[in-house]
Amino acid sequence: MPLAKALAAQFLACVIIAVAIKAGIVPLRPIWQPALLQGLAASLLATALRSERWWLPIHFVFVPALALAQGLHLHPLWYLAAFVITALVFWSSYRTRVPLYLTNRRTAAALTELLAARAPGHMLDIGSGTGSLLQAVARQLPDWRFNGIESSPLPYLVSRWLSRGIENLSVRRGDFFAADWRDVDVVYAFLSPVPMTRVWSKACGEMRPGSLLISNSFEIPGVQPVRRIVVDDRRKTELLLYRPASGKGGTGR
Ligand SMILES: C[S@@+](CC[C@H](N)C(=O)[O-])C[C@H]1O[C@@H](n2cnc3c(N)ncnc32)[C@H](O)[C@@H]1O
Repeated sequence: MPLAKALAAQFLACVIIAVAIKAGIVPLRPIWQPALLQGLAASLLATALRSERWWLPIHFVFVPALALAQGLHLHPLWYLAAFVITALVFWSSYRTRVPLYLTNRRTAAALTELLAARAPGHMLDIGSGTGSLLQAVARQLPDWRFNGIESSPLPYLVSRWLSRGIENLSVRRGDFFAADWRDVDVVYAFLSPVPMTRVWSKACGEMRPGSLLISNSFEIPGVQPVRRIVVDDRRKTELLLYRPASGKGGTGR
């Protein structure tokens, strides 16, 4: 739906400006004029379609950026290469609405401390990206077993490469919703607000009593975490701890 709205806003704005150029209302040259008007029209249309606000600047700059790039006279293969790399990194983000960004070092250290206080077990990072979090934690906690599941090809390949030689860590490519979470003691999620309700139902359906779901930053709507850990980093990252088997409460340790 958000993607359909975005395409509709851009396409309709292009049609409106093309008609205006044909009718002599808007000049074709200099090119920045119709490009800026298209950006403005796309932003207004996106507002009318009730797109989320962060889409608006993207709509505004998209076609003007294309016009600017045309002026650079780059070989078309550069555009193809940029498209292929972006697709390999973000893969199904348009559907999952979870892009790639990585857990920072201080948050990884806070998670390590939290796990070290528990009996050794098995942690699964759902959407493991380049595996940087898993590599940091797995090196510190050799008694724990760590797994990661990542859907995007390029981050997955990077994670395979960077995880080589770490005995207690393995990563695989796939959809974490299709995986089995029943033998997992801790699920770690750094996703987006979009999949959290579905993550919670899967966790409640599959995870054992005593297990923990840790969400970096994103709350599960309508569910109280049993504990919040505020990390001493610049963005004051919150680790939210949930007890899936009990539906909500618990001790959080
Ligand atoms: C924000 S990144 C977090 C990376 C890593 N866990 C970390 O904390 O550094 C989220 C990752 O989840 C992946 N992802 C989103 N939905 C997924 C799914 N259903 N199955 C597997 N991976 C998924 C995305 O491709 C993205 O790389």
